[in-house]
Amino acid sequence: MTVGFIGGSGIYEALDLTNVREEEIETPYGEPSAPVTIGELDGVEVAFLPRHGRHHQYDPTDVPYRANVYALKAVGVERVLASNAVGSLREDLPPGTLVVPDQLFDRTRHRPYTFFDGEIVVHMGFADPYCPHLVEHLAACGRETSDDGIVEGGTYVCIEGPQYSTRAESEFFRDQGWDVIGMTAVPEAKLAREAELCYATVTGVTDYDVWRRDGEVTLEEVLENAAANEAAIKEIVGRAIETLPGERECDCGRALEGTINTPRAHVPEETK
Ligand code: ADE
Repeated sequence: MTVGFIGGSGIYEALDLTNVREEEIETPYGEPSAPVTIGELDGVEVAFLPRHGRHHQYDPTDVPYRANVYALKAVGVERVLASNAVGSLREDLPPGTLVVPDQLFDRTRHRPYTFFDGEIVVHMGFADPYCPHLVEHLAACGRETSDDGIVEGGTYVCIEGPQYSTRAESEFFRDQGWDVIGMTAVPEAKLAREAELCYATVTGVTDYDVWRRDGEVTLEEVLENAAANEAAIKEIVGRAIETLPGERECDCGRALEGTINTPRAHVPEETK
């Protein structure tokens, strides 16, 4: 099995892999954020991509999400672990907290959300956006490896960015009972499901969002705290890879069953 790892802000290099090689993958969606780094961790093959590129050159809207997911699938990945830097919408989730969300709210507007924008129409279920088995597995690994513990479950609201939220938006998100806020969970999770990959993420809190402060969220604090969260996130992801069961027992691998509507090419000419 090959396990994918998409590193978020603060994670630009793979885990401590052996037998490392790099593969430049061509995709119908252009180049991925970087060549895929492939190596082994405790006998398990790992394929790594830094989401924002090795030099953090892609902003959240411009990350080549489709190329990244396509490239991981192309090298044989079935399960993807990810990380994201997030802001906190809860008093009890200070910077440094790790959260494995199990829900998503999409507030993005300008992204490619599907692989199926050509000949076929696909309506796929997405009620549980993260693979429930991977969420549980990541959280269990977090409980083992992190001294400060890990929060299992929670809702990640994904905004378009690149600006952070207004105070009104931040209060609104809090009022909904949502937990963390970021800019990169969507469309990655949607595309992973369309590619029938299992997908889950460890988010690392880098800041309190503006509901709790007089001033602004700053890029400096986000990057500084993302770097501070790097070691703990890598430890959890590393443990999760080493202890992942050999076979999948969830439904992610059958996500497209029954979702494909009539190919456009087969619609009778007079009704087009
Ligand atoms: N990423 C890290 N902190 C964030 C915040 N407060 N809002 C949106 N994305 C973030």
